[in-house]
Amino acid sequence: MDIRELEQVLTGLDEVELLKKLVGLFKGQIVFSTSFQYEDQVILDMIFSNDIDIEVFTIDTGRLFPETYKAWDKSLEKYKKPIKAFFPDTQLVEKLLSEKGPLSFYQSVENRKECCHIRKVLPLERVLKGKKCWITGLRSGQGDTRQSVPLVDWDPKHEVFKINPLHDWTLEQVKDYINEHLVPYNELHDQGYPSIGCQPCTRPVKPGEPLRAGRWWWEQNTKKECGLHVKDEDVEIKLNIKSISTDKK
Ligand code: ADX
Ligand code: SF4
Repeated sequence: MDIRELEQVLTGLDEVELLKKLVGLFKGQIVFSTSFQYEDQVILDMIFSNDIDIEVFTIDTGRLFPETYKAWDKSLEKYKKPIKAFFPDTQLVEKLLSEKGPLSFYQSVENRKECCHIRKVLPLERVLKGKKCWITGLRSGQGDTRQSVPLVDWDPKHEVFKINPLHDWTLEQVKDYINEHLVPYNELHDQGYPSIGCQPCTRPVKPGEPLRAGRWWWEQNTKKECGLHVKDEDVEIKLNIKSISTDKK
């Protein structure tokens, strides 16, 4: 099946029908990634409330907000369904911290991308290996690099179909769904955080600022992406951590 054929099969379906259809097509090889933000909670509710057989996973970068862990916990409590957790490679994190300290990402864009690569991009590669379909909470309304998020995409790096069921939803639609369906959500959304990533790299936005302005806010003129959702190579980095001697003296 190619991307056009998949688009045709999915056209006209509502989100729940679409998720069910995808299970029929990719059973056992379909996953949904959640970071417990508003959008993800909508999709999580659709999957769990309708018993749709899609594996749900999250990447715990080790630097998440306490409020994010709370939203994760509230979701387990409400739905009583499994959310699979993935963690960065221990040795790489140990090397990074030992060589560059805990706040290296503020020093340069290269360091920031290195941290994202270790804590997010590599775990994602592990999850998507052998999978055929990846569902995300991306929306076009998230602006900047997200302006033309399609419903159906092809991710050439991971060789999976990438499906963005909420690609054309507005933030208001997302909030309405959360309220109507009594979906648990990250309380930071009520404190000026429309977009929530790792704690040291996310701040609230001021009224009128773009939704993702609080992500890596200290960086000027860079693509505000961590590498999970980029196709071009300029965000790819090579790990440049020097090897650490573990010899005991
Ligand atoms: S990011 O690339 O800038 O971090 P963003 O926070 O906007 O992404 O989230 C967009 C989508 O990426 C989410 O809807 C979710 O599907 C996925 N995602 C982001 N962070 C994670 C994470 N830590 N674990 C799992 N999925 C994630
Ligand atoms: Fe590291 Fe910040 Fe990227 Fe999280 S968002 S992985 S803390 S650089």
